[in-house]
Amino acid sequence: MDEHRAFEIRPGTGDDLFMIAGVLVDTWRTTFGGLLSDAYLGGMSREEQAIRHARRMGVPGVSYLVAIEPVAGDVVGFANFGPPRGRVPPDIHELYALYIRKEYQKAGIGTALVRATAVHCAGQGATSLFAWVLAGNPNRQFYERLGARAVETSRIGLGDQSYEQVAYLWKDIGALIGKADGQP
Ligand SMILES: CC(C)(COP(=O)(O)OP(=O)(O)OC[C@H]1O[C@@H](n2cnc3c(N)ncnc32)[C@H](O)[C@@H]1OP(=O)(O)O)[C@@H](O)C(=O)NCCC(=O)NCCS
Repeated sequence: MDEHRAFEIRPGTGDDLFMIAGVLVDTWRTTFGGLLSDAYLGGMSREEQAIRHARRMGVPGVSYLVAIEPVAGDVVGFANFGPPRGRVPPDIHELYALYIRKEYQKAGIGTALVRATAVHCAGQGATSLFAWVLAGNPNRQFYERLGARAVETSRIGLGDQSYEQVAYLWKDIGALIGKADGQP
């Protein structure tokens, strides 16, 4: 699929934070309606997420990549990644967040962002990459399609509820870079 080539993928900066926060809030609502409570989704705010991600952007080793729609120049998707949180060896980097606006999904942007993430993390010495995904996320096949394997489950608290989440691991980051690049 070539559509994503029209979209620029570049590092995200502080100037992008408000658009990143908008993508996050809108995409949570379009993806997790019915899975998470209306109260929780309705209570999410762009301002709060912009502040949260501004803080995260300042953490050493944490990076953002954004996908830019070429006509209006808007951020329509982003990836956020860096050193692992929790008890994970430091050469296994973590993809903390990956969100693409609903109207731009299934056009190859997610693949392009994961590939660019893998290239960046490999450059920082990572040998593997993983992501926590809500067990009820309807898009889990995306990770499997890109060669990740479910390796662990845990629970995450969101609002006053707790949900199962699944860790998807790309054990060999080099293979991910090759796979996302269209090679076997
Ligand atoms: C999941 C997400 C990141 C995938 O990005 P995307 O740009 O839509 O995916 P791509 O177009 O790169 O798809 C890559 C492959 O995965 C497949 N795929 C993507 N979403 C899928 C789904 N929900 N079910 C089955 N296959 C899926 C595509 O069909 C494609 O397969 P192909 O190579 O055979 O054509 C994006 O759809 C998204 O942000 N969704 C909502 C939020 C979300 O779930 N984020 C992840 C949170 S952890």
